[in-house]
Amino acid sequence: MPDKFLKKLQADFDLGLSDCRKIISAFSSEMSKGLAGQKSSLKMIPAYVDVPAGSEQGRFIAIDLGGTNLRVLEIELNGRGGLRKLKEKKYVIDKKHTLASSGQFFGFIADKIKGFVSDHPVEAGFTFSFPVKQTAPAAGVLIRWNKDFAVRGAVGKDVVGLLNGQLLARGLPDLRITALVNDTVGTLVCRGYSDRHCDVGLILGTGTNACYREDLAKIGKWKGPKSAGEKMIINIEWGDFDQIKTSPYDKLLDRQSANPGKQILEKMVGGMYLGEVARLVLVDLVKRKMLFSGQPAGKLSLQKSFKSEYLSVIEADSPSGLRQTRNILSGLGIKNVSRPDARLVKNVCELTAKRASIISAACLAAVIKHIDRNLKNKHTVAIDGSVYEKHPVFAKQMRKALQAIFGQKAQKIKMALTKDGSGVGAAVIAAVAGTKKSNSAGTHD
Ligand code: BGC
Repeated sequence: MPDKFLKKLQADFDLGLSDCRKIISAFSSEMSKGLAGQKSSLKMIPAYVDVPAGSEQGRFIAIDLGGTNLRVLEIELNGRGGLRKLKEKKYVIDKKHTLASSGQFFGFIADKIKGFVSDHPVEAGFTFSFPVKQTAPAAGVLIRWNKDFAVRGAVGKDVVGLLNGQLLARGLPDLRITALVNDTVGTLVCRGYSDRHCDVGLILGTGTNACYREDLAKIGKWKGPKSAGEKMIINIEWGDFDQIKTSPYDKLLDRQSANPGKQILEKMVGGMYLGEVARLVLVDLVKRKMLFSGQPAGKLSLQKSFKSEYLSVIEADSPSGLRQTRNILSGLGIKNVSRPDARLVKNVCELTAKRASIISAACLAAVIKHIDRNLKNKHTVAIDGSVYEKHPVFAKQMRKALQAIFGQKAQKIKMALTKDGSGVGAAVIAAVAGTKKSNSAGTHD
């Protein structure tokens, strides 16, 4: 058993309380810099909205572009804080879409909307799960693509303008996009609509990011009206956080990625990358002849062959039989895996996911401390995303880490799975934008 090597791996991946404290301190300082408009790995983007009161009424469309799917929804708001999903359609975003020209890509979205919308006129919220410098409630310039998207000719442009152009070309001038929303913001608003303690939105899916409700007065870079007590949601873009200890595997993954040097935290946490992190460790073990008794690594040597979903399956596998682990390896061309080898593979998968959950908890702790230094109040964190939802122990490990950080007070933090909140929240914001004009005049650096 390669004890020395495993110990090093453990040291690289197994984060303790002191590592969490370091992350919290670095994250807080990056948040403050970002809010002040200074150079920071956290963009801290004003979202031009707060959680609405719940008096909005009517039917609204949500167009929810995530990292894996496009969803179009119709939502009805009853004017008393209640909402109902009337209709929903989901479309997979193929690799070819992510490499298309911006006309083709936004044309694809517009085609799906055209097939969905029957009534006219209609107001819609557009959830766009990529970093956008918002310039108005319904306008924002794409800073860059993440999650391996490489649509040509969109960076630096207003994404609502790009979509509107394609809607007009398809004879849909009556569909008015009144809100541009990040998926974290949609998730927070969706939950916050009925839960007044909800002040953080978190996505742990293909990509990762968080947002929270900030006092307008504390957003140093906001140049617009600032009435006392008013709040605005800040899209942290936390996936870009880079003040964090990385292993040689993270560095290699980053070098081989479509966006080297960017989204360092996302590459340690997001479902787009978790499988690849584990794969790089496993391939290294094979190369060092510490795994599979010198057998070649089969398809495992191919980039991205080890899917993040495997981490969930292997985590849940019974340690006595390790049948699922062996099945997955066999599918990759690695047969007759010994018990100690299967256990080592499970170990690597567990370490990778555990590290991701602890990093997520530490960053979340930093956000909550920023809002409420001594954790005096209750906080609900609205969370969505496949990693959080599907990995068998991710949520549990996050909670454990929060308990280690906050002690008893961690009870004040409720983590609430808010499924499909990103789209629903966008419809709510679209409704508000139709009635409320405040804060639409501000700008920021
Ligand atoms: C994007 C964020 C988004 C997150 C989760 C990241 O890659 O930059 O805007 O919120 O993924 O979808």
